[in-house]
Amino acid sequence: MITLHGISKTYAQGGLEVQALHPTDLMIGKGEFVAIMGPSGSGKSTLMNILGCLDIPTTGTYELDGKQVQSLTEDELALVRNEKIGFVFQSFNLLPRQTILKNVELPMLYGGVAKAERKARATELLSKVGLGDRLDHRPNELSGGQKQRVAIARALAMNPPILLADEPTGNLDSKSSLDIMRLFEQINGEGATVILVTHEADIAEHARRILRFGDGVIRDDLRKDLAQGEVLT
Ligand SMILES: Nc1ncnc2c1ncn2[C@@H]1O[C@H](COP(=O)(O)OP(=O)(O)OP(=O)(O)O)[C@@H](O)[C@H]1O
Ligand SMILES: [Mg+2]
Repeated sequence: MITLHGISKTYAQGGLEVQALHPTDLMIGKGEFVAIMGPSGSGKSTLMNILGCLDIPTTGTYELDGKQVQSLTEDELALVRNEKIGFVFQSFNLLPRQTILKNVELPMLYGGVAKAERKARATELLSKVGLGDRLDHRPNELSGGQKQRVAIARALAMNPPILLADEPTGNLDSKSSLDIMRLFEQINGEGATVILVTHEADIAEHARRILRFGDGVIRDDLRKDLAQGEVLT
C-alpha cells in the first residue's frame, strides 16, 4: 500500500543544505506493524512526515494505495491525510481549551461527518481507549498517558488504514508506554497498518518489522515474522 522509490529530502537553511533523507526505496504492505529506530538526526521524522503527507519529498515517487502522492496539490494532500492517515505526535498536540470529546470530533468535522455521528463515534473511540468516563475533561486534567490515548482516539476518528506515530511514548512512563503499545497492537490486529518511531528497543519489540536508520539511510530492515531461512523475493 506504501511504495517509495528514490524518495529523498534536502533542507536548505541559511545557505546550508542538509540532506535529511538520502534516496530511499521502501515498501510497506497493508496490515504491517513497523518500528523505525536510529540515532537523533538520522531522518526518522523526515520520513514519517513524508509518509504522512505532511511534507513533500525533494526527489522520488510515493505511491499510496495506487495514488501518486508527490504530484498532489496542498488541498489534495489534505484530503489524503484526512482519509488515509492518522498521525500521533510525541507531544500529543491536543487543543487545550476543548474537551477531549471535541478534540476527537475535530477530524470528523473537517471530514464532513454529521454532528450526531461525530459525537457517537468520538464517544465510542474514547471508550475504546479507556476514557469513556472523561469525555468532558480538558487535556490539562489528564495524565500524559491519558492525553496520548486521546491523541490516538483522534487519529482513529476517520478510521484511517494507516496509523503513524512519531515517538508516541517518548514522554510517558513505562506503564503508560505499555498501555499505548497494547493499544497499537489492538489497532494493528484490527487491520490498520501501524508505523511508529521509537528510541526504545523494548517498544520496538512490539512491532513485527524494524527499520534502522543512520545518516538518512535505511541501514537495516528486519522482519520478525519471516520463518527462519525464508528470503523475501
Ligand atoms: N525543517 C527543517 N529544516 C532544516 N533542517 C531540518 C528540518 N527538519 C529536519 N532537519 C534536519 O534533518 C536531519 C534529520 O532530522 P529528523 O528530524 O528527520 O531526525 P530524527 O531521526 O527524527 O531525529 P530525532 O530522533 O532527534 O527526532 C537533521 O539533521 C535535522 O537537523
Ligand atoms: Mg524525530
